[in-house]
Order: sequence, then structure tokens, then C-alpha cells
Amino acid sequence: MARIYAFGGGKGGSGKSFVSANLGVMLAKQGKKVVLIDLDLGAPNLHTMVGLNDPKKGLNTFLNKSVKDLSLTALPTEIPNLYVITSTRCSLEVGNLFYAQKLKIIRAIWQLPADYVLLDLGAGTTYNILDFFLASHQGLSVFTPEPTSIQNTVQFIKAVYLRKLKHILKQHAFSTIAKEVAYESDDGVVRSPLDIVDRVMRNDPSRAKLLREELHRLKFKLILNQYRRHIDETFGNKIEKICNRHFYAQFQFLGNIAYNDRVYESIMARKIFVAKYPYTPTSTDLKNVANDMVGNKVQESTPKEKHAQI
Ligand SMILES: Nc1ncnc2c1ncn2[C@@H]1O[C@H](COP(=O)(O)OP(=O)(O)OP(=O)(O)O)[C@@H](O)[C@H]1O
Ligand SMILES: [Mg+2]
Repeated sequence: MARIYAFGGGKGGSGKSFVSANLGVMLAKQGKKVVLIDLDLGAPNLHTMVGLNDPKKGLNTFLNKSVKDLSLTALPTEIPNLYVITSTRCSLEVGNLFYAQKLKIIRAIWQLPADYVLLDLGAGTTYNILDFFLASHQGLSVFTPEPTSIQNTVQFIKAVYLRKLKHILKQHAFSTIAKEVAYESDDGVVRSPLDIVDRVMRNDPSRAKLLREELHRLKFKLILNQYRRHIDETFGNKIEKICNRHFYAQFQFLGNIAYNDRVYESIMARKIFVAKYPYTPTSTDLKNVANDMVGNKVQESTPKEKHAQI
């Protein structure tokens, strides 16, 4: 079974597609079979980042049964071992999935014959996005140093956490009062997630341990993209610490990915960034994050400025 990674993070434009596409390339270059799936269903554009245009098959041809097996919709890219699954157009159907269609896609993703499957999610906290995130083995949040991005990332993490809490309450026989307390978070202002969980635990102490353990299984990896040199280098670690203090889940900061004007150039040229500009600090950052993501501990130092193509 493939290892599934989901890239989410609330804010539009933080770099979820850029980071997932380029990490996919890095993993494919290590000889792993990688499938990138564009689950930004209303606005797919991942295929453009890897130089493909006008896909003839995709998620919607799988949903309408013209293609039986999701793996048959995987499009090869210029990078050996790297495939992309997208939608053939921004169809209303695929942009607004029914529950059964979402389950069909999730089941098919689990069966894909690959080493790694990377899910590129859209911005926001709709149930589809949260459920695709939770269906992965590992969720990654891509954020930038801007306060608006931090704000949306925290909102995204809270939403994933509360969605997970509700899945747990559904799966296990919690008392009615404990469930009511959890659902109160839907009304008005969401209190702190820890507060909600603590209230559930107080109202059903017999299941407090189970709840804490289930939530602790939720692992988030954090990636700070568009990092600029004047920003505190430990910023990501600080966010990791705060999240670990405020949620029962596990947070790990994977690293900074440097801002680089050449990203724009590669997108304009419809070329894969790490293939076009391999000797930049941004490509080195992506390589290090790819290694950390899959548990390879090799770290490369950022190339010196004179060698860098920036
Ligand atoms: N490290 C970077 N350096 C410079 N520019 C970047 C970097 N990462 C992303 N960008 C820029 O940010 C833009 C948005 O990136 P991307 O499309 O990957 O974001 P996204 O999170 O997928 O957005 P959406 O939520 O709309 O899907 C890109 O077009 C690119 O120009
Ligand atoms: Mg995107």
C-alpha cells in the first residue's frame, strides 16, 4: 500500500501545490513511484506546475465510470516515476462531491499502486478537504510567515482536530452529554480545542484516556514556505511548540523553504522548479524537507550564494 501524504493549510496561495509537486519530484528522483493527486477540485492547476496541459482523463472520468480504475487516469510526466491525477476540467460535479463520491475517491486512492501518493488540497476547511486530509497517513500544513497565513493555518488545524474529535465520538460509545458538549463548538465562536476536549472528558471520564490516545495519533507536519532571510529562523519551531501545547495531537516542524523569484519564472515557463533550478537554496530546502518527510535523515547544506541560481 502506498504511503499517503496530504498537503493542506487553510490559506490560498501559501504554496501547497508548489511544495507538493516539487516534493513529489524529489521523491521520484530517489527511484520511488509517486502519484500526485490534485484534490483542489474546484480549481485544479497542479498539472500545470509539472508541465502538463489539457488532461484528457482524470477524477471526473473515474467518477462517471468512463474509466474503471483510478490508476488508469494517472498521467506520466517528464520525470520518470512521477504521475499526476487531476480533473479534465473544472466540472461542477467534481467540485461539489457527494459523500459517496468522496468515499469512492478515498478508497481508490488507498489502492493506488505506488510508493507515495501526495494529495494537493484546496484552501479552506470544507468537509471534503478535512476528510481527504484525515484519510492520509500523514497531514502536512504549508504556511507562510504572513500573519494571515498563520491565522488560517491555526483555523485549519482546529477544524481538522474537531472533525477528528467528531469521528472518534461517532466510532465509540460516548455519553450523550459528552457528544452534546462537543457539538456545542459548532455554535458561534469555537473555544480552544483543548477546552472542548477537556469538557468532553469531564462529561465522560471513563473514555477520557481513549479520547486522548486517539487524538494523540493525529500527526501534523508543518512546512514554512516563502521563507525570507530577515525572518527569525526558529519561527517554525516556535509554532510547533505552541501547537503541541494547545492540542493533544503531535506537531513536527519540517523546515523552511526559501522564497525565490525563480519560482515565478518556472511556473511561467511551465517547468518543474527543482528540475529547472536545482542549485538554488529553495531546491536544497525542498530536498531536505523531502528527506525528513519520508524519514531519510540526510541533510544538505544550502548552496553558497555564488553557486545559487538566484
Ligand atoms: N517558495 C516560493 N518562492 C516564491 N514564490 C512562491 C513560493 N512558493 C509559492 N510561490 C508562489 O505562490 C503562488 C501560489 O503557490 P501555489 O499555487 O502552490 O499555492 P496554493 O497554496 O496551492 O494555492 P491555492 O490555495 O490557490 O491552491 C505560486 O504561483 C508562486 O508564484
Ligand atoms: Mg493549489
